[in-house]
Amino acid sequence: MLLAAFSGVAQHKDIDQKVEALLAKMTLEEKVGQLNQYSGDNTVTGPLTINPNKEQEIKDGKIGSLLNIMGSRYTRQYQELAMKSRMKIPLLFGLDVIHGYKTTFPIPLAEAASWDLAAIELSARVAARESASSGIHWTFAPMVDISRDPRWGRIMEGAGEDTYLGSAIAYARVKGFQGKKLGDLDAVMACAKHFAAYGAAIGGRDYNSVEMSDRTLWETYLPPFKAALDAGAATFMNSFNDINGVPSTGNRHLQRDILKGQWKFTGFVVSDWTSINEMIAHGFSADKKDAAFAAITAGSDMDMESSAYRENLAQLVAEGKVPEAIVDDAVRRILRKKFELGLFDNPYRFSDEKRQQKELNNPENAKAAREVAAKSIVLLKNEKNILPLSKGTKTIAFIGPMVKPKRANHGFWAVDVKDIDSTYIVSQWEGLERKVGKNTKLLYARGCGFNDTSKAGFAEAIAVANQADVVILSIGEKHDMSGEAKSRSTINLPGVQEELVKELQKTGKPIVILINAGRPLVFDWTADNMPTIVYTWWLGSEAGNAIADVLFGDYNPSGKLPMTFPRNEGQIPIYYNHLNTGRPAKNEDDHIYVSAYIDLKNTPKFPFGFGLSYTTFAYADLKLSKTALKRSETLTASVTITNTGKVAGEEVVQLYLRDKVASIVRPVKELKGFQKIKLAPGESKTLTFTIDDNMLAFYHANLDFKSEAGQFDLMIGASSEDIRLKSGFELLESQGVNKDESNLSMPKP
Ligand code: BGC
Repeated sequence: MLLAAFSGVAQHKDIDQKVEALLAKMTLEEKVGQLNQYSGDNTVTGPLTINPNKEQEIKDGKIGSLLNIMGSRYTRQYQELAMKSRMKIPLLFGLDVIHGYKTTFPIPLAEAASWDLAAIELSARVAARESASSGIHWTFAPMVDISRDPRWGRIMEGAGEDTYLGSAIAYARVKGFQGKKLGDLDAVMACAKHFAAYGAAIGGRDYNSVEMSDRTLWETYLPPFKAALDAGAATFMNSFNDINGVPSTGNRHLQRDILKGQWKFTGFVVSDWTSINEMIAHGFSADKKDAAFAAITAGSDMDMESSAYRENLAQLVAEGKVPEAIVDDAVRRILRKKFELGLFDNPYRFSDEKRQQKELNNPENAKAAREVAAKSIVLLKNEKNILPLSKGTKTIAFIGPMVKPKRANHGFWAVDVKDIDSTYIVSQWEGLERKVGKNTKLLYARGCGFNDTSKAGFAEAIAVANQADVVILSIGEKHDMSGEAKSRSTINLPGVQEELVKELQKTGKPIVILINAGRPLVFDWTADNMPTIVYTWWLGSEAGNAIADVLFGDYNPSGKLPMTFPRNEGQIPIYYNHLNTGRPAKNEDDHIYVSAYIDLKNTPKFPFGFGLSYTTFAYADLKLSKTALKRSETLTASVTITNTGKVAGEEVVQLYLRDKVASIVRPVKELKGFQKIKLAPGESKTLTFTIDDNMLAFYHANLDFKSEAGQFDLMIGASSEDIRLKSGFELLESQGVNKDESNLSMPKP
């Protein structure tokens, strides 16, 4: 252990020396070149605004990195050009490997519903192995933006609304991508994005401004970034939005004071796509040169696709406006990573056709994707126990726009892997076909398209439903209805899909509804009237198999919602860890002089942390090791969970705390721990949660993170609303805080 630590230090020293030696030989233009990143054309992930002669610029040492180039052959070709430059500094190849490379896993929001950190880490591991074998050094993931707004299209890319869950997932994803260490051939650099608060875009409209107190920023939005950093994230990406009027790309406080200062981040920051130039549209910079100045001085090290650094930085240095030391610092950070990846030893080490061939055809990857997909499915309703289906069912009608398409299961942010056809993707139809025996007859009708206004296909759907014993209806959002620049003002089931549900209900047949989507949708009528609903999100290339596994009980669903599902859009933002207000409603129908809407129930449609199983779990014997603790002490809470049903199943046992009285009002409950356990029928397990001072602390107005003495509620539940057991304890001492001094924003008497 000690030896490993020593060799790590020695390696860093060695790399630092090499970086310095290289830097000393570089011209200012070559240094600026390292900070310049262009998009290639294997895929397009943003508006192309420049048209450089990339080949020539690489040979001239004017490019440090390319994104959107993939495959061992293509990456090798570009790397060969870099080897023709004077300094022979290898290129970095970055790509949005968000939820898988060739093998796609569920979208990140769906994976978050698994609450299974090992599964999430595995998904990132497989993505790293596959992409690293295709010449990729760097993924622009994980996106760790907390968001409380399902209208925001990029909600699909994160872990949902909760800071605690989001931080745990951020950590797992970084570990998965980066593996044992950078430089291993199965590891890619992670990139924690988008720094910061991008998920709080006003109105859920993508790229929109963010207005937020520092306290909220620190308490809710920054912790997942810190978790990514603690896991060793090699890079960060800044964000398109402004926060309180300052674009993140030009935000010194975020990038220099917090990230590189207080948090001591040693990796590098890449701008988001043309976000440097976009500071002109923001009204923050007068022109491209001004934008380049703002970005580099604020700590944005690499310029993605703006060409602002390439065109202006050398001149800004020559004019004495930007100290060369600032450029050097940015270049150092990037070169260090290139050394750590081993690219100076062999620039082609990740571009290996043989390894690519092997990794992209590894059957273990599909197996992992199937498992993770099954774990991500959330059973929302199963009132009549229609599920699981019997494999002996004679006739099943499988209806809906999502039944036959293949690629659509990938969802948004799937890599369009070159030279690979889509036959390996298991459609929902194929999954069902493989699952049922010869004696089951499968009938198909599309019913309608995702966004159709025409009901022309309804008659056929009704006809096949009428011939079936069971109907499975697969509806939802098309893969491009949620994602970047895919905000929606209404988040209903698009087109006439809910009409189709209503028509099929009239057949009187048992119907299982599958909802495929990149966000929480509003489907009030369906939720109220249909007894069996399965939320399948977008599950990736094994969607068909995973769905069939769940429908027939080969996998007992265990997912829990990582976001609150609203009743309608007017409730947004709605999240479980809200404050109580001075006039909280007593129940969901209480509307008189309380904080409520007069035209809607006060509760969400489905709460955070909710999800059913084919079995049931009893919670009993909540025991606290003590009723009062000092700050230096810990307290344990134990609880016994029993599987009271007939089949084995997994339960996510959730721990929530509430600080009852504090100088800054605390949420009605906050997730502070969870454990996912598997139990055989009749089996019991006792779980222990340890509570320490850190879990009781919060950010004060002056940003001190401290606990305050007083009473705490401790709740253990199966969801944020289904609290099964409750107790309480007292924290005996504050951390040198009293109400007056913590509330520094208030004028002192
Ligand atoms: C997105 C980033 C992404 C980048 C490169 C931008 O539009 O905001 O998340 O990594 O494009 O594709």
